[in-house]
Amino acid sequence: MEIKKRPLQSASTSDFTFEALQQIAPSAFVEVRGEDGQLTHKIDFDILKELLGEKIADEQEERFGFYWVGKQEVKRVAAQPTRQTLRPVEEKSVDWDNTQNLYIEGDNLEVLKLLQRAYLGKVKMIYIDPPYNTGNDFVYNDDFAMSREEQDEAMGNLDEEGNRLRRNLDSSPRFHSDWCSMIYSRLLVARTLLSNDGVIFISIDDNEVHHLRKICDEVFGATNFIAQLIWERAYSPKNDAKYISNSHDYIMMFAKNIDSFTIGRLERTAEANARYSNPDNDPRGVWKASDMSVKTYNAACDYPITTPSGKIVEPPAGRCWRLSRNAFRERLQDNRIWFGPNGDSTPAIKRFLSELKFDGMAPTSILFYKEVGHSQEGSQEVTALFGDKGVFDGPKPVRLLRRLMTLANLKDDSVVLDFFSGSATTAHAVMKLNAEDGGKRKYIMVQLPEETPENSPARKAGYKTICEIGQERIRRAGRQIKEEVGLLDNGLDIGFRVLCLDSSNMEEVYFEPHQTTQENLSLQVESVKPDRTPLDLLFGCMVDWGVELSYPIRKESVEGKELYIVNEGALVACFDEELSQETIEGIAQYNPQRVIFLEACFTRDADKINIYEQFKQLCSWSDEETYKRIQMI
Ligand SMILES: C[S@@+](CC[C@H](N)C(=O)[O-])C[C@H]1O[C@@H](n2cnc3c(N)ncnc32)[C@H](O)[C@@H]1O
Repeated sequence: MEIKKRPLQSASTSDFTFEALQQIAPSAFVEVRGEDGQLTHKIDFDILKELLGEKIADEQEERFGFYWVGKQEVKRVAAQPTRQTLRPVEEKSVDWDNTQNLYIEGDNLEVLKLLQRAYLGKVKMIYIDPPYNTGNDFVYNDDFAMSREEQDEAMGNLDEEGNRLRRNLDSSPRFHSDWCSMIYSRLLVARTLLSNDGVIFISIDDNEVHHLRKICDEVFGATNFIAQLIWERAYSPKNDAKYISNSHDYIMMFAKNIDSFTIGRLERTAEANARYSNPDNDPRGVWKASDMSVKTYNAACDYPITTPSGKIVEPPAGRCWRLSRNAFRERLQDNRIWFGPNGDSTPAIKRFLSELKFDGMAPTSILFYKEVGHSQEGSQEVTALFGDKGVFDGPKPVRLLRRLMTLANLKDDSVVLDFFSGSATTAHAVMKLNAEDGGKRKYIMVQLPEETPENSPARKAGYKTICEIGQERIRRAGRQIKEEVGLLDNGLDIGFRVLCLDSSNMEEVYFEPHQTTQENLSLQVESVKPDRTPLDLLFGCMVDWGVELSYPIRKESVEGKELYIVNEGALVACFDEELSQETIEGIAQYNPQRVIFLEACFTRDADKINIYEQFKQLCSWSDEETYKRIQMI
């Protein structure tokens, strides 16, 4: 059998919908022969309709929904696969070999698509802080139905320098539509990365909160709404406010699947504990008196109670007791009813701190600055790290992210993603939390290499892009945390791998083999772009084949050929020519889950077949396994 060729493009969101449908309605799928002659599954819509019976909406039926100009096109853009790739940049990275963290430079829509295969359903928490659309923000313009050039021309998408990041002015007729399109496409893709017990938080203010809520209802499902948190971002009112001095932002919170999500509760504060005392020296410890009457009237619970002092007490007018006569008697015998220090007050139930149903306290929908910091605290933290004021506008305080991580109920090894990462506050907070409790949580930061404005404090301090600011913040914050932790440091990961979004590693001819003519046959041999290294090719394959990009990578030389071994066999790659039997054996000893070669290195078709057979034998793989596990680019 022939070795399969990798497509080298991201998955399409529709692939995941297709797979999910296949799980729940397998009978609607039929086998057909694909273009490559292999059998493949396709959906039979008529069967699916029959399975759904009456539950199909009539096209004419009026429906509730949120619409804006360009919404349909955005769905297409979000589902479209990308041929771009992620290239490793070792020199910008910190502790390249050992770190589990990723810092990705590039437009987040493309990056999210590229992360889909490796991180599908693996991210526990997403936090994003997108541009709020205040009337003067930069909003990224994606590629819509028209060709990029046509659309750019029609809509003025490019600025004077030809960048796709454009100021979205409130005078624009598509002011809200453009913002909605920008966020909708990204959320559609981001949702697929969330684990079943995952959660997303989105910072926003009054400008777009109402639109964002509707978009989230649609993308995540209204039943997965958890809260529209209020963050008290300002600590003092602005006296020159025309109407109301606005002192809060919102943080939209949705679960991927509300039934699988458990909220993280807050640690009990000394203030909350102080409400409990033990005036009767009960051996069960401190307790709090709780009202014994309730509003919902039940005649069986309306009875007189005689206090230890001999006074008869009836429930307050229109109310009854919370307990039936029997339940009351049982509690009385167990010393769980309190009649006050003199034994003559209205009875109350003793609630013991040690018997609370849940650990910790229920979080509230308001995040007060005293507990999570205000926006100035965020700026002060960045200033303290850089020693310069104003290097980054509007960073969030680390304590705010720390609180969101508590609510997200992160596990020790959870993955946290921020794809509008700015100064990388989220990375800072992950490192801090790991330092506190010895956890091994990992982060993925995504940030556009947006240029800092000329003459800005950032540019004067030597930072040409926001990515440079974010990476430097992580370096400095990491060093600071490590110093604070000192000897207690138990392998705290303060490193990160930098990857940059770039065009495909392959020349166009790679994607159009059917158009191969005699003239470009030689070109095909050189289908790898000249500036790409073997490490670029390796990461391209990892992205495309869904191998986690933070996995450890080792280089090994066998018979003068370089092998790249990812996570001890998750993937083994060799991009050298003329592979000897020893090299093949060197690869096979890992019993690899995936093996990748460069097609151009095989001069004869017979060699491809030979290698296929060698692996089958050496690893005892079936034909199907071999076909799946060995591929070439
Ligand atoms: C409000 S800031 C985030 C601040 C961050 N929470 C912090 O604490 O520093 C939003 C960031 O998103 C970035 N951004 C905007 N559009 C983007 C895109 N399409 N892809 C990646 N990053 C983008 C901007 O450059 C900006 O740095």
